[in-house]
Amino acid sequence: MYLGKNEIKTVAIIGTGVIGAGWAARCLHRGVDVCAYDPGADAEALLREVVENSEQAMEKIVDVPDAKKGKLTFVKSIKEAVENADYIQESVPEVETIKIPTLNEIDKYAKANAIIGTSTSGLLPSRLQSELKHPERFVVAHPFNPVYLLPLVEVLGGEKTDKGACDTAADFYRSIGMKPLMVRKEIDGFVADRLLEALWREILHLVNDDVATTQEIDDAIIYGAGLRWAIMGTNMTYYLAGGKNGMRHFMEQFGPALKLPWAHVEAPELTDELIDKMVDQTAEQGAGKNLREWEQLRDNCLVSIMKALSEFDHGAGKIIKEDLAIQTEKLGL
Ligand SMILES: NC(=O)c1ccc[n+]([C@@H]2O[C@H](COP(=O)([O-])OP(=O)(O)OC[C@H]3O[C@@H](n4cnc5c(N)ncnc54)[C@H](O)[C@@H]3O)[C@@H](O)[C@H]2O)c1
Repeated sequence: MYLGKNEIKTVAIIGTGVIGAGWAARCLHRGVDVCAYDPGADAEALLREVVENSEQAMEKIVDVPDAKKGKLTFVKSIKEAVENADYIQESVPEVETIKIPTLNEIDKYAKANAIIGTSTSGLLPSRLQSELKHPERFVVAHPFNPVYLLPLVEVLGGEKTDKGACDTAADFYRSIGMKPLMVRKEIDGFVADRLLEALWREILHLVNDDVATTQEIDDAIIYGAGLRWAIMGTNMTYYLAGGKNGMRHFMEQFGPALKLPWAHVEAPELTDELIDKMVDQTAEQGAGKNLREWEQLRDNCLVSIMKALSEFDHGAGKIIKEDLAIQTEKLGL
């Protein structure tokens, strides 16, 4: 019923900001054509700049000899972008009143067998699909920035989504080097952003209360927990931290503190003063390099981390090995 991963030759990208451009770069590098639309004034130029800036890092991860890049076309309407597309990825701003009419228009002009994925970070698919004529082919496919390097994509459907659409979508994302995480229940924020939001809320409290600067808070991750997270997440890290009695010992030792609790459940008020502190302190951290230079530093470090993990056939390192095998097989090498 839906086009399979090998039949997907052209992907329409609707919205080419940070995330849409990342999707475009990921697809193009793996030989999939992209037809993009965004009404922003400099949208096409920005998209091409991001695609070009991403290339050097991706080449180090998926280096298949003689691989052909996909073709990038930028068009002037949603209709033109989707009418011949085999798969559609919507990445417009995270506002329901923008997403719903955009999705309705995509649905109106898309081929009947093309799946529509949305990059939403946490809006419920049942609401986003509520006015679609073909809601059964609508899935959430929530990626992570930079989309062209990070493998994770959370996949889930709404009340009217076919289970088959989620499975077909997951197959497609695997074929472009990703790790689909099938979210079992439809909840606000899905899995990953629930975790990230809890951390961010606490960061805002620490800055608001002048406990630490944004740099000091980043240091608390960079030199500690962050190094472990890429290897084994939080649960396995705590399992090891419990010693020979594992998680039971860890829970007995640190569980009581949860009752205090150390962390806040409510976010602080986003006052002008707090917003200014966050903006000023992070601007100070970012001084000395422009945005593209920071992105290249981040990308090169991500590549090195993933390559190190691939030596152990572990985590994201395992995915980049599989990706290379998939892209090589596609070329019949
Ligand atoms: N930034 C992140 O870290 C991140 C991570 C995962 C998912 N997301 C999700 O991805 C989506 C896009 O976020 P972003 O960070 O790329 O935002 P962004 O602001 O960088 O880009 C949004 C783009 O959509 C365009 N746009 C606005 N109205 C449009 C329309 N009607 N049709 C087509 N394009 C339109 C804008 O011109 C802009 O270029 C959101 O749903 C967001 O929640 C963001």
